[in-house]
Amino acid sequence: VRIVLVGFGNVGRTLAAILADPSPYAGLKGLDVSVVAITTGSHGTLANPAGIALGPALASFERAGGFTPADPDHSGLATLEVLTRLDYDAVVEMSPLDVVRRGEPAISHVRAALERGRHVVAANKGPVAWSYRSLVELAARTGARFLHEATVMDGVPVFNLARHGLRGATVLSLEGILNSTTNWVLGAVEQGRGVEEAVAEARRAGVAEADPSLDLDGWDAAVKLAALANAVMGGELLPEDVERRTLASLDLDRVRGCPARGRRLKMVAAARRDGGRILGRVEAREIPLDHPFALVEGTSSILRITTDLAGSISVVEEAPDLRTTAYGVLSDLMSLAD
Ligand SMILES: NC(=O)c1ccc[n+]([C@@H]2O[C@H](COP(=O)([O-])OP(=O)(O)OC[C@H]3O[C@@H](n4cnc5c(N)ncnc54)[C@H](OP(=O)(O)O)[C@@H]3O)[C@@H](O)[C@H]2O)c1
Repeated sequence: VRIVLVGFGNVGRTLAAILADPSPYAGLKGLDVSVVAITTGSHGTLANPAGIALGPALASFERAGGFTPADPDHSGLATLEVLTRLDYDAVVEMSPLDVVRRGEPAISHVRAALERGRHVVAANKGPVAWSYRSLVELAARTGARFLHEATVMDGVPVFNLARHGLRGATVLSLEGILNSTTNWVLGAVEQGRGVEEAVAEARRAGVAEADPSLDLDGWDAAVKLAALANAVMGGELLPEDVERRTLASLDLDRVRGCPARGRRLKMVAAARRDGGRILGRVEAREIPLDHPFALVEGTSSILRITTDLAGSISVVEEAPDLRTTAYGVLSDLMSLAD
């Protein structure tokens, strides 16, 4: 599979490091991937139809703080030029989520590839949250596939579970703790620390978005919920239509007083069917201590899928790291290779 990497940040570099030396991972044996281009926002582009040597590319990116004309495969092409002009089988979209631009420019990247019949693997949830239906229809017209396992809960196969493991069952509702920063902050506040201190901790741990209001105001969870509702429930839920309650004006005494009342405050994202529509909501809820959601700590997350035929199924992701996100991408690449 000849792939283009769009984005060479935390996820892109972790993926490239695994592809550079997959030998420690027995399950990746047989995955034959060649990276023919790597693009970034402002740190240069590499392109080589014969395949980029990933080890040296990672080392020179780290040494110079980006790709430079000194790199043997350096290219002057911008991302859309790479996607519309070069030859490749699939693009891996790993540019940052832009809420203000409602998923762009990632949506244009995905569209450019699908229009040419090239497959897409997205880690960026913007295209799934804002343009799922039209992108899937486009992919069907051109014979391409649009996969996006890493967009929600990193490497946990939530989309594959719904697509392959729940055949014949209709998903009635989804409910989960999907945002690490707010879960971290609520836990820290419960233990007596302040919101700002907790956000700073989450940032040091690499969990919080660069702009933590995206987390605290429920935007990150709303985008994930919309992506899930669209792909798993067949809806057309936009992130801006998800009702959001911010954590910014948190009542600290309420959080700290919860355990004495047998409860914990958790930021819950929920989607349910209402006639022909899907309604979404992100809000802090008091959860009984014996409920599975109350046990989800720190950066972990949980999703409960309720169906008509297969009952309710919960999946928990424990303390993810960048490798688990890269795994979500790799599992999609393996599906494409099949
Ligand atoms: N980190 C996680 O654990 C995780 C988990 C699940 C999903 N995701 C999603 O995966 C994506 C990547 O996350 P990350 O943590 O790797 O982000 P990141 O560290 O901020 O890296 C983003 C990369 O995208 C590049 N980029 C920006 N604009 C671009 C454009 N127009 N064309 C091509 N590349 C562009 C950036 O280049 P410049 O630096 O030059 O701008 C950078 O190399 C995001 O959408 C994120 O939401 C991340």
